[in-house]
Order: sequence, then structure tokens, then C-alpha cells
Amino acid sequence: MADVRTGDGTRRSAAPVILLGPPGAGKGTQAARLAAHLRVPKISTGDMLREAIAAGTPLGRQAGPLMDKGQLVPDDLLNGIVGARVQRDDCATGYVLDGYPRTLRQAEGFEDLVGGGVSAGFVVVNVEVPREELLRRLSGRRWCPTCQSTYHVESRASRDGLHCDRDGTLLIQREDDKETAVAHRLVEYDRRTAPLIDFYRHRARLSDVDGHRPVDEVFEDLRRLVEAQR
Ligand code: AP5
Repeated sequence: MADVRTGDGTRRSAAPVILLGPPGAGKGTQAARLAAHLRVPKISTGDMLREAIAAGTPLGRQAGPLMDKGQLVPDDLLNGIVGARVQRDDCATGYVLDGYPRTLRQAEGFEDLVGGGVSAGFVVVNVEVPREELLRRLSGRRWCPTCQSTYHVESRASRDGLHCDRDGTLLIQREDDKETAVAHRLVEYDRRTAPLIDFYRHRARLSDVDGHRPVDEVFEDLRRLVEAQR
């Protein structure tokens, strides 16, 4: 794999980084920081699907009702959009995946797509957070429908508590952060995504990170782990 120059000027591995973890574990928060540090794109399938919904595309029309209920979007659609995204030039020096792969079929599809059938080159991090903390984070999350920034009513409120600090849009609660949808998302995670931890533990470089700590501390661990895998 090629090396890339990072924020502090040193060279880092361009291996794809995969962040695993349940809804609310902080994958999106950490993926944004890690991608900025490594100077590579963050590829968030949740963000891509929400953009498709906002744009009213056929993908968005198919994904929207499933997402609102906390169900997963079909594997073939996800493999298609990620497959196209990682072929773009800006991914040539690496990328951070947030929210994908999420099922064994997606993991196998992704392997075939970028690894020629092997995951050994991937850096996989499993972010662990207790269930009661996940519920606290998801119920208190507020979201900007314009730029997709996330806040939390207690631990990361925007400056005025109502509007996005970046663009002034009124913050809202995501439909799938409401109680019934969250319950579905956690069931889907346990049933279809958690098995990926064992899948990657046996096939890639998987590390566990304690995500139930301040954002900066979690990031420091992540950064060290990824840099150690050069
Ligand atoms: P997606 O948007 O990927 O949702 P998710 O995986 O459920 O993850 P979340 O965005 O809820 O949480 P996160 O781990 O990113 O945490 P965050 O950093 O935001 O997917 C949504 C839906 O799209 C799915 O349900 C599915 O329908 C569909 N979809 C997407 N990808 C798919 C795929 N591959 N296959 C099929 N369907 C797919 O943080 C959460 C909150 O906690 C925030 O308020 C944040 O400020 C706060 N927080 C973060 N870190 C900390 C910390 N260390 N301490 C305190 N608070 C923190």
C-alpha cells in the first residue's frame, strides 16, 4: 500500500481503516477526526444515504423508509455505492470507513472489491461502549440536516443549543434516534453487524478501543493504533 503525508507532516500507511461499533459508539465523530488527521476521505454510508434522501434520488427513496424504522438498507445497494466511492481518485491514498461494512455479505463484497479476497491489509477498530451510554447518546443527539454535523444536548451542545455552529441551520432529532427506531437499530446491530468482530479478528488487524471516554482520549488511542500499523 502507498504511504500518505498526514497533518503533522509524517508519512502514514494508506491501508483502509474500518470503524466498527454499535449505533452511538462515536464512529462518525472519530472517523471525521481520523480522516482529517490522515488527510484522507471519510466515507460514511449513513451520511451518503441521508444525502440521497435529501436529494430525492431513487436510492434515497428506497433507503428512507427503511432507515426511519431502524432497518438496514439492502447489501447490494451499499456494496454498489461504496464500490463506486472508493474507486475515486481521492481514495488512492487511503480512507476511513464509518458504518460500512455492516453485514457479512457487505464484508465479503468489500474484500472482493478492494482486497482481491483478503482483509489482511485493513486496519479494523471496534469501538466499545456500554448499552446505557449508547441510549443516552442517541436520545440526546441533535443533527444538522444541512452539513450533517452532530451535537448532543448535554455533552456537546451547539453555542445557542438550537442552531448549527457551522451554518446556522435549526438542529433536529434524527427520525431513527427516536426510541422505537433505536431499539430496532440495536437489534440489527446485534444480529447482523456484531458477527463482523469475529470475522475481522481472524482475518485482519482488529483492535478494541474503549469508546466510553472523552472524545479526545478515544481519538488518541485510535490515532496511535492506526499509526502503529504503518
Ligand atoms: P449511520 O448513520 O451509520 O448510523 P449508526 O451506525 O447507527 O451510527 P450513528 O450515526 O448512530 O452513531 P455513531 O457511532 O456514528 O456515533 P456519533 O459519532 O454520531 O446509519 C444510519 C442508518 O443508515 C442505518 O440504521 C441503516 O438503516 C442505514 N445504513 C448505513 N450504513 C449502512 C450499511 N452499511 N448497510 C445497511 N444500511 C446502512 O455519536 C453519537 C452521539 O454521541 C453524538 O451526539 C456525539 O456527539 C456523541 N458522542 C460521540 N462520542 C462521544 C464520547 N466519546 N463521549 C460522549 N459523547 C459522545
